[in-house]
Formats: sequence, structure tokens, C-alpha cells
Amino acid sequence: MKPVFIINGPNLNMLGLREPDVYGRETLAGLEERCQAKARKLGLDISFRQSNIEGELVSWIQEARSKASGLILNAAAYTHTSIAIHDALKAAQIPIIEVHLTNIYRREPFRHHSYVSPVADGVLCGFGGQGYELALDALHQILTAKKG
Ligand code: DQA
Repeated sequence: MKPVFIINGPNLNMLGLREPDVYGRETLAGLEERCQAKARKLGLDISFRQSNIEGELVSWIQEARSKASGLILNAAAYTHTSIAIHDALKAAQIPIIEVHLTNIYRREPFRHHSYVSPVADGVLCGFGGQGYELALDALHQILTAKKG
């Protein structure tokens, strides 16, 4: 099976250093290891990526259309601003799970709107790094059901 792309947006490379009271102390490398371990258990391959550049995220989502079996996306701040990411997701034609470490609905009002949610199969927010593992579980179920 094609890998699951796990794509992370701007400032997530700063995890562990960035506002630890909000985002916790786990680094992005730690989160990647956790995802690798979970994927191994589920028999999935993953390609884990991070970029601060909106266009690079769009290109990876376009790549996912043919190269990935599913997509887990934490678009970070671009979640709330990016029509380009919304449009790329609309064209992706693979299962998409939106993830956020924090519960964006309990935070500032400008985080309450997501351009990703209307084009995602499901949304997980507020579970910290565990949300990525839950997203892998969800994708595994969707992909298994697809295979019939
Ligand atoms: C985030 C929430 C966003 O509002 C914020 O801009 C981020 C991280 C999260 O994982 O909780 O950078 O996507």
C-alpha cells in the first residue's frame, strides 16, 4: 500500500520550544517517532513532513493525490487562512484527517474557523500528540473498509 502522508505546517518545527504551556514539551522528532511506532503496529508506512512554506504544503498535498493512500494534516496557522490548501485538499481524492494538538475551539476566536475541516473526512483536536495516533487509527479503518 502507498504510504500515509503526515504533513505539518508552519512553526511545528518549533515544538518543544514553542509555548510549551500550550503545545507541550514533545518535539516534532518525538512526534514523528511516536507516529512511526503506531504506523508499524497498524502495518502502515508513513512519510512525515513539515514545512513553514504554504506553497510547499500545497505541492505535497498535490503529490499525495497519486503517491499517498491517505493524508493526516496539521496545517497549523494556515488552517485558518489558506484557500490554496483548501483547494489542493479538494482535488486530493484520498481520505484526509485534520489534526491539531490543541482544541482550537477553546482558543482565540480567529482559530475557530478552519479551511481544512469542510474538505476533511474527520477532525481531531485537543489530544496533543496522541491525536496523530488516533488519526492513524481512523485512517487505518477507512483504508481497510475501502479494500473491502
Ligand atoms: C495548531 C493550532 C493552530 O491554531 C496554530 O496556529 C498552530 C498549531 C495545533 O496543532 O494546535 O500552529 O494547528
